Amino acid sequence: MSTSFNRRKFLQTSALAGASMLWSSKLHADQLTDRLSSEIGKSKWELDSPALLLDLDKLDHNLKAVSIPLAGTGVGVRPHVKTHKCPAIAKMQVDAGAVGVCAAKLSESEVMLENGIANVLMTGVNVTLPKIAKAMELRKKFPGFIQAVDNPQNAQDLQDAAKAAGIIADVVVDIDVIRRSGVPTGEPALALAQLVDKLPNLRFRGILAYDGGVQHVKGFEARKTRAHKTFEPVVATYERMKASGLNMEIFSGGGTGTYDMMHTIPGFTDVQVGSYVFMDCQYLEIGGAKNESLFDDFEASLTVLTTIVNNNYPNRLVTDSGSKSFTLNKPTGWVVGEPDFVYNAGSDEYGTISYEKSNKSYKVGDKLEVIVPHCDPVVNLYDVMYGIRNDKVERILPILARGKSQ
Ligand SMILES: Cc1ncc(COP(=O)(O)O)c(C=O)c1O
Repeated sequence: MSTSFNRRKFLQTSALAGASMLWSSKLHADQLTDRLSSEIGKSKWELDSPALLLDLDKLDHNLKAVSIPLAGTGVGVRPHVKTHKCPAIAKMQVDAGAVGVCAAKLSESEVMLENGIANVLMTGVNVTLPKIAKAMELRKKFPGFIQAVDNPQNAQDLQDAAKAAGIIADVVVDIDVIRRSGVPTGEPALALAQLVDKLPNLRFRGILAYDGGVQHVKGFEARKTRAHKTFEPVVATYERMKASGLNMEIFSGGGTGTYDMMHTIPGFTDVQVGSYVFMDCQYLEIGGAKNESLFDDFEASLTVLTTIVNNNYPNRLVTDSGSKSFTLNKPTGWVVGEPDFVYNAGSDEYGTISYEKSNKSYKVGDKLEVIVPHCDPVVNLYDVMYGIRNDKVERILPILARGKSQ
């Protein structure tokens, strides 16, 4: 019996449980901050590890830096909270001038709305009926909640649920750029936007188009050329929608890699930057407009604090932070202050550092900070970030939407 046959039989006969809607909107920020209040004022080196550290001066820099190239362009910032999953940071982004935030999932949106973030645009679509009903409940409670749609049946489902909830729900049409989500550009997108516009319990607010494949293209000019090319059909679709009289008040997309080039796209209204708050090795490597070898528009504010647990082997250190603290994303982490260290998070609970040269010798119990390969999934592994200023813990930032993947 072949493996593929076994797999097919298993899948055909297994009952797939329906997704449960078990997440709670009762949030535990106070419990988390109370439990950790004794850490406030400590040196970051006294914290136990693995721990997620957030340098607050660097964060402040990033919150301001994102708006600099956009000043006077008419394009706003709508940060994506999928990166930090932390209402306290979303609030800082709004205070820094963001037009609202984006969220990837319904449960993430709920955490933001329930914790005082008034304008949340959910970039993913809800397709199951329980989720759609829950989304309409949220919209009823929070008028600043905007939902996405990318096919006509889904638009009809949203209409039915909005009607049942007795509301008119705000909706944007997601336009395909990377064949992950979205309706194809041209006629299908126009027809869907017109359908949403006609459905009595939906209000059409504009479009989304996320060019995920462009964000990590190395070299500013190469990235810009590719961003413009991938957006050509989206812009043509936008122009058709506008000419047909649709309300095009939102044309949202882009990310950290294209934040300083999207304002040249006709009609574009806001960039959905996520990683810029923290940065990570994947982004640092792509190069920016001012520095081709390092993308240093933003500072690497997020690190994992790790402890050396073994130094018994030459040119090798073992730490307490493996894939469960770093994820398996590539490239491997960058050890702060030790450019020749190669960090490998391949084991679940252990990290290994190999090196030819080091700036000092390390003993068991010494701590290191490591910049993570890809920030979003790492943040999802921790309950809190320790907000650090001048090497001391200044505040605890609960990651309230951690694990909110529904
Ligand atoms: C729809 C959408 N918008 C924006 C972003 C933010 O991207 P970045 O972290 O590259 O700024 C993402 C990231 O995956 C995304 O999926």
